[in-house]
Amino acid sequence: MLKLYKCIDSGSEYCTCSLSDTKDCISCSHLRGDDLCDCTWNGVCILYEYIMKNGSQNNYRRDYKGQIVDKKFISNELYLLKIKLDNKLIRKLDTIGSYVFIRKDCNSPYYNTPMSIFDLDEHHIYIVYQEIGPKTKKINKGDTLIIKGPYWGGLIGTSDLSKKENCSIVIVARGIGQSSILLPIKKLYLKGNNIVLFLDQGKTSSLYCLDFMKGVNIKTILIDSLSNEGEKTLKNYIKGNPVDVLISAGADMVHRQMKTIIETIDKSIEWFVSNNSIICCGEGVCGACLKKIENGDRIKLCKTIIDPRNIY
Ligand code: FES
Repeated sequence: MLKLYKCIDSGSEYCTCSLSDTKDCISCSHLRGDDLCDCTWNGVCILYEYIMKNGSQNNYRRDYKGQIVDKKFISNELYLLKIKLDNKLIRKLDTIGSYVFIRKDCNSPYYNTPMSIFDLDEHHIYIVYQEIGPKTKKINKGDTLIIKGPYWGGLIGTSDLSKKENCSIVIVARGIGQSSILLPIKKLYLKGNNIVLFLDQGKTSSLYCLDFMKGVNIKTILIDSLSNEGEKTLKNYIKGNPVDVLISAGADMVHRQMKTIIETIDKSIEWFVSNNSIICCGEGVCGACLKKIENGDRIKLCKTIIDPRNIY
């Protein structure tokens, strides 16, 4: 039976990882203790890599130090951080779906909190977050942070979104979901894709992502995505225009709404969603992000590449 998923770290410098030592590898059936290979991975064989490394894992993601050079209030409990960071890590984060774990250097690793990369430049990353719990309160300008990364599973979908060229792409972003669309928009725009953004401020009362889109010429339609009128506007657009890819960034209810729209209008649309799972370790170890899919498999959403139709 064709496997529905693979690991986002397959073939990267972080493969193989500690999951292969415990026979929990996401992509390689041999490294889960099976006799047969059922992987659909066509890069370097993961089992071969594991054997060549003699089973020793020394390629863990490491902690970097970063410094908050600016903190701006956006609205409600929403803030923008500008963080000065080692540009070796910034280069690795310059990709769609990237995120990091952040904590203040005076706090224990219990405070590690995953945050999407909103934007970046040569020396800084920008993060928009809600100050709503013990992990995110009391983060202030001037603070030194411990930043662990890079992680790449911030957007879930089957193919490599960064390779899309000259496609028609619809992006639906609501509320804090705006934090995960800026990098995709900038990168996809440079590849000649025709992007239409349906933007809903949701509970944030802010359309902050628009302030960072200078030089990016895309059509933006403001909607209340959960209202009948908003849904009608979106449906009419999808019905009347060719759409190759739809990206939804927002709460699970937005993803479920998009799934229904895709399934009723055009099942061939390729779908990507912001990763809303509870992410604690990001390494497939703790199980916080575990989700049971229709065929009974339990997948770890922090590391798994899968069609979101299987999880919504
Ligand atoms: S966050 Fe720990 S297994 Fe996914």
